[in-house]
Amino acid sequence: MIIFVKIKIVEENKKMLSEKKNLDEMDDHEKEQTTTYGSRYFTKSIPKYIVPDEGMPPRAAYQLIHDELNLDGNPALNLASFVTTWMEPEADLLMVESMGKNYVDNDEYPQTEVIQDRVVNMLARLFNAPEDCKSVGSATIGSSEAIMLGLLAHKWTWRSRMEAEGKPTDKPNIVMGADVHTVWEKFARYFDVELKLIPLREDIYTITAEDVVKEIDENTIAVGAVIGTTFTGQMDPIEDINNALLEVKKTKGWDIPIHVDGASGGFIAPFIYPDLPWDFRLEQVRSINVSGHKYGLVYPGVGWLVFKDKSDLPDDLIFNINYLGGLMPNYSLNFSKGSNTIIAQYYNFIRLGMKGYTKIMENMLENARFLGKKLEETGKFEILNDKILFPLIAVKLKNCDFDAFHLSEHLREKGWIVPAYTLPPNADDITVLRMVIKESFSKDMVEMLFKDIMASIKTLNQSLNERRKAIDEKGNPTLLY
Ligand SMILES: Cc1ncc(COP(=O)(O)O)c(C=O)c1O
Repeated sequence: MIIFVKIKIVEENKKMLSEKKNLDEMDDHEKEQTTTYGSRYFTKSIPKYIVPDEGMPPRAAYQLIHDELNLDGNPALNLASFVTTWMEPEADLLMVESMGKNYVDNDEYPQTEVIQDRVVNMLARLFNAPEDCKSVGSATIGSSEAIMLGLLAHKWTWRSRMEAEGKPTDKPNIVMGADVHTVWEKFARYFDVELKLIPLREDIYTITAEDVVKEIDENTIAVGAVIGTTFTGQMDPIEDINNALLEVKKTKGWDIPIHVDGASGGFIAPFIYPDLPWDFRLEQVRSINVSGHKYGLVYPGVGWLVFKDKSDLPDDLIFNINYLGGLMPNYSLNFSKGSNTIIAQYYNFIRLGMKGYTKIMENMLENARFLGKKLEETGKFEILNDKILFPLIAVKLKNCDFDAFHLSEHLREKGWIVPAYTLPPNADDITVLRMVIKESFSKDMVEMLFKDIMASIKTLNQSLNERRKAIDEKGNPTLLY
């Protein structure tokens, strides 16, 4: 976000002009006698609003920015994000080596495209695409781009079908639960599709097949189903929804596809629950997105979109561009993007194999369940995703006079990033804390987090009691929480 603060720019300009005199390089002798921190750049303010006339030595620029970034949270203590914060040094090396390659320059970097196609192939098989299907897919910046592209293809297919049947095409809709990530609502707004959002209930934080059947009609371009919801890490009943849609197809002739949002669960289920049918084994599941940068174990930004069959991606959505060399088919929202996360995904596949991924997923799940059990035993927490199918825990506080936001804030003071939020409508009076357990979060870390959670609860209770005792001048108790 760019904020133009005019006054600040003027002030900064003045300051820079007065400092300019002193910005000569240090001579060699001076450099030998001190460290980067001893240079003049550490007693001047860093340019913030206008590009400076003069630069600075690389070491000083590095150190200034590096130190400023210390104000960010520590990724290793970040239980808020699903996104990968650690990779092996060999993956880091490959990523640095390929950092300058623009993925879209397929003609210049043909091998990178070959690698992308291999990953798509591997994913299609991981998601059990039938042998007689020709699956197609693409790397994206993340699941958000993948979801938008997947749904766009379904909108196109729906429109062609309606046109062929001589029916109106001005009222497309999409059916999904309020447990979806915000990007689904974004798709509906950006791509002009009516959003039919099924509200949650007080005690069920996913949708049911019956809910879906009530909402669909001839204008439904697709049904959205999630494996590993953002809010509680649960799963919509995808098999039931598939069966219900098959029945509708038989009785009413509406062929409504399911797009599965496997942003996080799509990289867990194949390894931990290989017999769970949620993917292309189900007839109506026509497209799946997954975030490589979540449980695909790659740094941010990579997602994947896979269509069950080539016929699920209308040809007129594919742009053939020729100005970068050869003829390149392109289905993406963004044009340029880095190659290195795609390469890192391939590294993980060949380095870990099925066994390696499974071991990591099992560890994460074991540590998540261990944390869940410990929290539950205190009597202060109710686990909302009680089976803990995926390595995250969503808990509601019980028997406490403070709320999840207070606890979250308190943990932040200790460095832990544990978000508190309310669930979507109609379960929005429930406030939860969510802890995503990642590969690099050991049992030892779980124990330290648990200790700090309990210490925070104790401190919050103590301060609450003190405040309760406090009486204002009029004799009323002054409650803070
Ligand atoms: C279920 C779900 N879908 C989609 C997304 C968006 O994914 P991305 O951040 O890869 O764009 C998320 C992100 O957390 C998610 O949890």
